[in-house]
Amino acid sequence: MKNRLAQLIQKDGKALFLPIDHGYFQGPTHKLEKPRETIKPLLPYADAIMLTRGVLRNCVDPANTKPVILRVSGGTSVVGEDLANEGLTTSITEIVRLNASAVSMSVFVGSKYEHQSLINLTKLVNECEDYGVPVMAVTAVGKELEKREARYLALCCRIAAELGARVVKTYYCPEKFHKVVEGCPVPVVIAGGPKVDSELEVFEFVYDGMQKGAIGVNLGRNVWQSEYPVAMIRAIRAIIHENYAPKEAQGLFEQVKAGKA
Ligand code: 5RP
Repeated sequence: MKNRLAQLIQKDGKALFLPIDHGYFQGPTHKLEKPRETIKPLLPYADAIMLTRGVLRNCVDPANTKPVILRVSGGTSVVGEDLANEGLTTSITEIVRLNASAVSMSVFVGSKYEHQSLINLTKLVNECEDYGVPVMAVTAVGKELEKREARYLALCCRIAAELGARVVKTYYCPEKFHKVVEGCPVPVVIAGGPKVDSELEVFEFVYDGMQKGAIGVNLGRNVWQSEYPVAMIRAIRAIIHENYAPKEAQGLFEQVKAGKA
């Protein structure tokens, strides 16, 4: 367990995870139509990639040594009835066989499927703990993006940690994000959500989230849907591992974009 966690969370205690699992309920998401091509230039700058077994099997070179966080919940789609109605998709044998450094699954607190998703989490934790595989719980909101506020996120993160998640992925919120982190006894990483208008906005929320206790990010669309994904991931990496302020990160972004760094 400690060895796997050390593959994900770096020596400085920080982490940059690159999620490309969106197709498991969204299908061929914009700029992720060909995952192999999307991740190729980004992999050197990520501490781990998060993806499903299907994309791992078909779009990632088996010689890849970048740690893998395997998405092991699913069974819903954007055109289906309810995104919260997820089940576990991948057996522990497959998780171990694929040499995952961790697994991730979504919990939907407050939804019609709250109980089901939380029991799924406990089942997964029970199996994974036996093999030393950390579980990262994703506090999902489905289509209800307005749920992303501190009181709700703190509730979700705490419940996920209490039920055995080793890491929790949640959303950043501008108000009282420190309360989300302080109430969660395991490391918290921030998801990005839908692409926002400017790069600086991303750098600002990543920086603020880190100042308030997050250990890093699990940030997808705001990286690979950017016109300059490599510049984006390098700037975010500098915030996480080199403590760059948002404007310094913007400066690095501009330099990489101009081919000067
Ligand atoms: C999809 C996920 C994503 O991994 C997570 O939302 C992070 O990606 P993004 O930054 O694009 O929101 O769990 O269900």
